[in-house]
Amino acid sequence: MVKNLIHETTVVKKAVIPAAGLGTRFLPASKAIPKEMFPVVDKPAIQYIVEEAVKSGIDDIIIVTGKDKTAIENHFDRVPELYSVLEEKGKKDWLKQLQEIDNLADIYYIRQKEPLGLGHAVLCAKKHIGNEPFAVLLGDDLILSDKPALKNLINVYEKHNSSVLCVQKVSKSEIPKFGIIKYKKVNGQIVVEGMVEKPAVNKAPSDLAIVGRYLLKPEIFGILEEIPFGKGNELQLTDGLRILNEIDKLMAYEIQDGQWLTVGDKMSYLKANIEYALKRPEMNKELSKYLKNSVDLI
Ligand code: UTP
Repeated sequence: MVKNLIHETTVVKKAVIPAAGLGTRFLPASKAIPKEMFPVVDKPAIQYIVEEAVKSGIDDIIIVTGKDKTAIENHFDRVPELYSVLEEKGKKDWLKQLQEIDNLADIYYIRQKEPLGLGHAVLCAKKHIGNEPFAVLLGDDLILSDKPALKNLINVYEKHNSSVLCVQKVSKSEIPKFGIIKYKKVNGQIVVEGMVEKPAVNKAPSDLAIVGRYLLKPEIFGILEEIPFGKGNELQLTDGLRILNEIDKLMAYEIQDGQWLTVGDKMSYLKANIEYALKRPEMNKELSKYLKNSVDLI
């Protein structure tokens, strides 16, 4: 197995990528194509996420899939017929790129039989994870940064032996869209004291929103098994985290040099494509010019 993206070694070896949600905010595009497979420039969103996990030192990845999500499994499969054609046509660069996808990591698939919530999707991975700390990377959340964002959470875990959330500052108008943490700073580190799901601006305990990356101790599984289904009749990961926070230390890592983007809704998806394309040297100049001209025309 070639894992040529691995730069790091870590005690955290496993990651769960929940990708079984219905994607209702992106209908009708997400009816037959999983939103996790929507291309961001030229790669499906979930490939960036797998790459982030691998670059952070994780080589055992569980993707939680569901009904109509087989495109995800197909994407990480080997396709010998296609490789032969590319070889015959001398398209070596393409061949190399596709073979790199095959060799990214050991990827396992677990079916969530019904989309019963993010907490339930994470719980589906319990048997595979066992009694180890593990990462969760949401299948529709991207973090555009030079260094893999997840590695920062792993560093906090290794230093403090606590579960870790990833957070980013959001503007006032965005606060009601996200889970917001209450926290205190101890020696420059963020210690979580609570969290509120989608608060009104005047009720928000801070402006730090929870981003789709988590580093969790396996105790979360016992909690998720015990707590009742919550909002929307779904098993909510946030409800589990709140209990975890009562029984154990929970810390947060604030993204410093990355950009949180999502493919979960239409406007964010457009922004993600623009931001990723602007980072591509071969596209930056032309796209910048196009964007500038479009703005001038408004
Ligand atoms: P979201 O809440 O963004 O996904 O979950 P959703 O439910 O598909 O979205 P909408 O609100 O209907 O548009 C974040 C991640 O968790 C996964 C999703 O696939 C997404 O990648 N998820 C969510 C599951 O795996 N199972 C679930 O039951 C819910």
